[in-house]
This record gives sequence, structure tokens and C-alpha cells, in this order.
Amino acid sequence: MFSVVAQAWTPSSWQARPAEQQPEWPDTGALDRALKQIASFPPLVFAGEARALQASLGQVAAGNAFLVQAGDCAESFEEFSAVNIREKLRVILQMSVVLTYSLGVPIVKVGRIAGQFAKPRSSAYEQVGDLRLPSFRGHIVNGATPTEAARLPDPERLVQAYHQSSSTLNLVRAFTKGGFADLAQIHAWNQEFVASSPEGQRYEQVAAEIDRALRFMRACGIDTEGNHNLHEVDFYTSHEALLLGYEEALTRQDSLTGGWYDCSAHMLWIGERTRQLDGAHVEFLRGVGNPIGCKVGPTTEPEFVLELCERLNPARVPGRLTFISRMGAAKVEDALRPLLRVVRDAGHPVVWACDPMHGNTVTSVSGRKTRAFDDITAEIAGFVRAHHTERTWPGGIHVELTGDNVTECTGGADKILDSQLDDRYQTVCDPRLNARQSLDLAFHTAEMLRATGLA
Ligand code: PEP
Ligand code: CO
Repeated sequence: MFSVVAQAWTPSSWQARPAEQQPEWPDTGALDRALKQIASFPPLVFAGEARALQASLGQVAAGNAFLVQAGDCAESFEEFSAVNIREKLRVILQMSVVLTYSLGVPIVKVGRIAGQFAKPRSSAYEQVGDLRLPSFRGHIVNGATPTEAARLPDPERLVQAYHQSSSTLNLVRAFTKGGFADLAQIHAWNQEFVASSPEGQRYEQVAAEIDRALRFMRACGIDTEGNHNLHEVDFYTSHEALLLGYEEALTRQDSLTGGWYDCSAHMLWIGERTRQLDGAHVEFLRGVGNPIGCKVGPTTEPEFVLELCERLNPARVPGRLTFISRMGAAKVEDALRPLLRVVRDAGHPVVWACDPMHGNTVTSVSGRKTRAFDDITAEIAGFVRAHHTERTWPGGIHVELTGDNVTECTGGADKILDSQLDDRYQTVCDPRLNARQSLDLAFHTAEMLRATGLA
């Protein structure tokens, strides 16, 4: 095997490598035109912001902070509204408050948002009745409707994804810097259908205690008005860097440092299906200055993880590389420990985050793709135990959620049953936690970390 590290990197050097999971665009001329157009558009994020996130993730790698990465499995062109974005932010802010309060460390907040459109598929085709159709690959590529016409990849969708990402990001910036994320609003983040539930009431108690602490600080003469940390939050964007043509078109040279950054999001990750060492995705991401992630499934070998560290973070920069394990509840503890050990012993400063969703997907009796809340919490518990045993820091969680009252994952405090999945099953791809289940998960996660003495 020859070494890619020794080869020169350019934003297009990935093109000489095999790229998995790329759509078969029927009209390559139209694809080129769309990509040229995107390359002429302004960047969505700035290099300095990506560096700030990397520094915060460096704190996670050192065990001084915790990462919450959360949002849709796949953003939708159809479910695109201010309310939708606001509700998602609301629940992530709530989860962060619960975790900050219980763990006593800063929470680094990263959305699967403003660009999380493209989906890898286990099969390129799908059988629908008598039809053999190209699989749905996310709204950035084709439509979900099971017809030949809808499933045809359309490059105009790349341009639309850019514009939707841009308006989403604009709103995210406004919400997080313009008053909505002010700690004074802490009670307002509890949505009505959440507030009446046991976990909503538990949240109210935390919020009331924080109110009291703020009053105490003011009484002591501390200027809480003037401290911007109490009135706004840093919220970052991320998505799976799947469509490399799109990512390349948004890769720009930073005028300050001369380095290349993928300005489609602050953080990008490599999925479980595209992490081949000599593949195009590893090649592309090794050269950009953003913090990057890589999913690791249950069959991942320790040597492979070490090789990824060498290729993606040869300079050993803390916060540059996040491993997102997605093993399945039954496997995580045994499968993760050897990986934690080799990385720890090699001295690589990585962030370890737990994706408790993708290893726990099942098909319900009714034929719906779902995940059981108990399996999700069990995977986090196994993840925390593995870190406790290996004396490493369980750095964060990576979850698929929505702020809406959907019925996509079974169980949780409101005990959603298989037979109720059809009620409000709205996801365009994988099943997400609803707002109540998400808040509940934050409480569970905090308890698991505290029970092991890790926080
Ligand atoms: C995802 O995060 O939506 C996803 C497809 O995950 P994975 O690559 O881990 O299967
Ligand atoms: Co998913």
C-alpha cells in the first residue's frame, strides 16, 4: 500500500481516488455548471470560526468539555421553515443546559444542520413493487417519491442545498446571537408539550436553580448583564462530507493563514461507508483545516484507527479529529475498548463521541425503520463504561433529533409503541428522537457520567 500522506494535496486530489457513494448524475455538463456556480458563491462559514471550534474540541479531547452534536438525519427541502429550525435549536439548548449544569463543564454545541442533506445508502437501487428505482440519496441529489422521474439525480438540487444552508445558517446565527439563546430565556426553551411532561418539569427545576444562581451572582455584585457568555452561545454547523464535488466547490484558501478550509460547514465528518484509507473521502478531508470527524462501526480494527489518526491528524492537533463510534448497544463496550487503548497509548489527542443511533436501527412490526429509546441509552451506558475502564474521556454524544413531537423512535418516558409510529412519522431518512426523548436523553447521559465518577 502506498502512502497518500506523502502525496501533495489539492482541493481536487480526491478525484484520483475511488469515491464511494457518489450519485450517477445523468447530465455531467449540468453538474459542472452547478458546481462552477457554487464555487463562485460566498463561503458559508469562515476559517476563523472553524479554528475556534477546533480549539473548543481540543478542550473536549483534554477532558475539560463535552460535545453535543445533534440534528436531522437528513434535512428536507420540504420541511424548511423558521419554526422547524427554532424548535431544533431550542431542544439542543435545553440539552446543553442540563448537561452543563450536571457535569460542570462547557458544552460544545454542533448541529447536524445547514448542510446535512446527502445520504449514503447500503444499496444503489431499491425495489418498489415492480419498479427497480435508484435509491433516494437526500434532497441535495434526488426526490424521495418512488418514481423514475423523482429519483433521477438533479444537479440543480446542489444549488438549492447551498441556498437552504445559507438561510438556515443566517437564522441559526440570529437565534444564537440575537437574544433567543440568552440564559434569561431558559424557561421559554421548554415547549408546551414538553413542559407538561416529567422530563419537562425536571428541566424547569434546573432552570429555576440557574435563575437563583444568577440572582445570587448579581447580589454579590457580579455584572451578569455585561457578560456576553450569559446572553449568547457559540453554535457550530456540521454535516457528512459525502458529495465531494460540492465540498470541493466550497473549499477556499484562508487569506489569513493560507490554509484550505471547506467552508460548507465548520465541521465535516466521514461516514461509516466512505472511510476507506486510500479512498477519496479520507484524501479530501486530510487536506482541509476544519475539525473533522470519522464514524467508526463495530468491525473497526485498532490498527485502522491508528492509521486514520496518522493520515488525518499527523500533527496531533487536539480537537482536529473526532471519532464518532456507532457500534450498537450490545457491542459497544467490547468493540470500543481496544480502540480507546491504542489511541490513548499512541498519545493521539482525539475526541471520542458516541452515536447511539446508527448501530441500533431496527425494522418495526409495522415495517417502519425505528430505534428503541432503551437501546439508545444502553449504547451510551456501554460507551461510558468503556471509557471508565480505559481511563479515557467520553467526550460527547452525536444524535439524530428534532424539536417536534414526532413518533419515530419507540419508548422513552412517553412510551411510544410500535403501533404508534405511523401517527407522526415525518423523517426523510432515519428515525429521530423527539423533543421529550432528547431532553430525557440529556438527563440520562448526565446521570451515567456522574455515576461512574467521570463528571
Ligand atoms: C448518519 O450519520 O446519518 C449516517 C449515515 O451514519 P453512518 O455513516 O454512521 O452510518
Ligand atoms: Co442517519
